[in-house]
Amino acid sequence: MTQSPGQGNALDNLLTESRTFPPSDEFAAQANAQPALYEEAKADREAFWAKQAERLHWETKWDQVLDWSDAPFAKWFVGGKLNVAYNCVDRHVESGHGEQVAIHWEGEPGDSRAITYAELQREVSKAANALTSLGIGAEDRVAIYMPMIPEAIFSMLACARVGALHNVVFGGFSAEALRTRIQDSEARVVITTDGQYRRGNPAPLKPAVDEAVAGAPSVEKVIVVKRTDTEVAWTDKDVWWHELVDSQSDQHTPEAFDSEHPLFILYTSGTTGKPKGILHTSGGYLTQASYTHFNVFDLKPDTDVYWCTADIGWVTGHSYIVYGPLSNRVTQVVYEGTPNTPNEGRHWDIVQKYGVSIYYTAPTLIRTFMKWGADIPAKYDLSTLRVLGSVGEPINPEAWIWYRENIGGGKAPIVDTWWQTETGAIMISPLPGVVSTKPGSAQRPLPGIGAKVVNDEGVEVPHGGGGYLVLDEPWPSMLRGIWGDEERYRDTYWSRFGEQGFYFAGDGAKYDNDGDIWLLGRVDDVMNVSGHRISTTEVESALVSHPTVAEAAVVGASDETTGQGIVAFVILRGGAGADAGGADAIKALRDHVAKEIGPIAKPRQIMVVPELPKTRSGKIMRRLLRDVAENRTVGDVTTLADSSVMDLISAGLQSGKSED
Ligand code: WT7
Repeated sequence: MTQSPGQGNALDNLLTESRTFPPSDEFAAQANAQPALYEEAKADREAFWAKQAERLHWETKWDQVLDWSDAPFAKWFVGGKLNVAYNCVDRHVESGHGEQVAIHWEGEPGDSRAITYAELQREVSKAANALTSLGIGAEDRVAIYMPMIPEAIFSMLACARVGALHNVVFGGFSAEALRTRIQDSEARVVITTDGQYRRGNPAPLKPAVDEAVAGAPSVEKVIVVKRTDTEVAWTDKDVWWHELVDSQSDQHTPEAFDSEHPLFILYTSGTTGKPKGILHTSGGYLTQASYTHFNVFDLKPDTDVYWCTADIGWVTGHSYIVYGPLSNRVTQVVYEGTPNTPNEGRHWDIVQKYGVSIYYTAPTLIRTFMKWGADIPAKYDLSTLRVLGSVGEPINPEAWIWYRENIGGGKAPIVDTWWQTETGAIMISPLPGVVSTKPGSAQRPLPGIGAKVVNDEGVEVPHGGGGYLVLDEPWPSMLRGIWGDEERYRDTYWSRFGEQGFYFAGDGAKYDNDGDIWLLGRVDDVMNVSGHRISTTEVESALVSHPTVAEAAVVGASDETTGQGIVAFVILRGGAGADAGGADAIKALRDHVAKEIGPIAKPRQIMVVPELPKTRSGKIMRRLLRDVAENRTVGDVTTLADSSVMDLISAGLQSGKSED
């Protein structure tokens, strides 16, 4: 299976996967997306997107679908006017669905709240009136730093309603991270809470805001929602939500804004560098968020109960909790807390309680569920689930199979969705009623999207070849720049393949023999072993395909003979047995990788660890593992979700038993 010499390939193709799962006839027949969608988009891309934009209510229709004359700055639905919040809330009330539940909110301590579209309209209107009373209007920036409570969603929609840009900052970020994001966007208002529930206990949140605001002179007011009843210090900028918002009128007339009116800024830090303020606008963004949510998740507004487990601090929460789902008149679950509070069955308890039918989560969580063991979901009735989604990282084939068997009852299609903060909405994913799914592959660009895998010269690689994933056509929900930094926007995304005009944002990928796309991780992480360019993802997937392994991270560490040697860090599955970390077991694991993808990929060293270093959004930070593998002092750990993890890993290494 090993390919002959890797030289010349941008990335070698090592792992093969032959399992495929066609949709059932029953699913295919009822699916929102039918095969003709691909044909339609191919026949006339702009006409296709114009048709998708008709999903929305436009106050004024556009006169041009796409203006790409100022590339790489796109304008979509030029001349059109709409109000994004009206599209997500009011029009559903007007069409007679005011009594439909929009949000089944589940608090971490077990409190809950069902919010209908009529109620959502009143809450968003009050919040919009409150913002107006503070002088907030079109193009002002509002920072939102909150846990997953309904007021966070009301706040985002209220901003959209008055034309202000929200800048949501994940509630797990530090005061300093908040301050830099407030300052860079020059936010005039911050919306926050007194505290938030974290693993069963209230933790203060407002002190971080106080600290951040002290160093951010643009802030005039801080609106504070009472969530935990934690005592808080008070400044003259502070105002309680229940005093300011609850006294407002629940009537508000939305104003229509230009299709290219800015909607939000969202900072993405990645694993290195100063955070970038990714800018999204209105008409194109909402069109693609709505279209993808409807077709990729096969949403049926009258019968489905949808649940996306992301936090609104990430783009997934923006596009697949707020804008896509609400524009489609979803009924959805929003959960405030962690998946193991009060126990490791919490998600399945919620699925059972609300009859969730569509569930969208991240591979890091799926692998955590694997580590906790299949007996936990087995205790719950998950039979309502009919579509499962994955996003954020490559999903290893074995984790995919585990998800299908243990959560999806062996029948629910899994959509592996590739996209980025920058792309705004899903770009590559199977359509669940059309495409036979393949464990581990995001497969093909959605109808209307252009993506391909190219070599160093920008030439498309043949089937079976690996290289760089590029986007070769502008798309409606694409970023419109980096806030305040045009140069960085051009450099970061448009310079690598500037000649060809391709967008490139750092992911390696390959085509399999059927032409399906596999994401192979960040190109910065690619390992070079004796001239073979090996992706971290493929070796990790080979490790996870062993029955004892729940999660794996591999890095290339410098090696005198081979250039780089592969060093693997693995977490064992629940019930893997006491011997699973012993010398014989480690040897068996190395042999397993050699057998799965070839001797060239056999790890030089495997270490069993209790945890892996991850960013707050769940991505593995291989840079830190490289430091460990090369015996260096571990670098900057400030972007880690839990900085004590590196101590745990180093302590494990000193025990000496984990090395082969
Ligand atoms: C990066 C973007 C998109 C919402 C969450 C992350 C990786 C994302 C997949 C997938 C393989 C994936 C890529 C991408 N990624 N989805 N299905 N398969 N890799 O947003 O934080 O902007 O990260 O996440 O590396 O570039 P983000």
